[in-house]
Amino acid sequence: MTFAKPEDIRAVLFDAYGTLFDLGAMIDVCRNGAGDKAPALLDLWRRKQLEYSWLRSLMGRFQDFWHVTGEALDYALETHGLKNPAFRASLMQLWLRPKAYDDAAGCLQRITASGRKTAILSNGSKTMLTAGVKSADLYDLLDVRLSVDNLGIYKPHPSVYEMAANALDLPPKQIAMVSANGWDVAGAAFFGFHAIWVNRQGIQPERLPAGPDHVVSGLTDIPPLLGL
Ligand code: LAC
Repeated sequence: MTFAKPEDIRAVLFDAYGTLFDLGAMIDVCRNGAGDKAPALLDLWRRKQLEYSWLRSLMGRFQDFWHVTGEALDYALETHGLKNPAFRASLMQLWLRPKAYDDAAGCLQRITASGRKTAILSNGSKTMLTAGVKSADLYDLLDVRLSVDNLGIYKPHPSVYEMAANALDLPPKQIAMVSANGWDVAGAAFFGFHAIWVNRQGIQPERLPAGPDHVVSGLTDIPPLLGL
């Protein structure tokens, strides 16, 4: 199945972490310092990271995603009795050198070859995104990296998606947003983008005000949605 008018979609935005960047390798590094507690530590870290980004947005107290990620990690490490500066540093570094999912480069290549723009729209800081696309070998396949840093508020606030539409100089209906995060898909769709949810694990949909146009199980399924 394709979009009704795939030719009208002129740009495709991608979320970064968990969508283009595979954070799966974190568990190995995490096991080195946390043993059996690794899955629980990672889960709490990720949840706190998102929670703090949203709470800071509500409170009007923005700090960039690197800062928030560190505070969330401190909370998670202390919860599990694992405070250790060297371990903390090794975990933080993982956000600077992610790998791409195997299907990321091929997907971006096909979209770029069709003449459409491709971009990252992420809550990650500029520094994190620049390091991340280089580490994941995706630097040349993305026209632009859009971080929330200049805006000072996190996705899924509508102003973030609006900033992306302005940066791409396109109306929202000519933009598709791809994310593995259901809350990001909801934010993008609510703003007026076409939204594609990458549901790699087959989890259940979020109960939020807007949802995806399409659900796919991997990035390989995206070019066909655009008639490619
Ligand atoms: C991103 C994270 C939060 O915005 O997935 O890239």
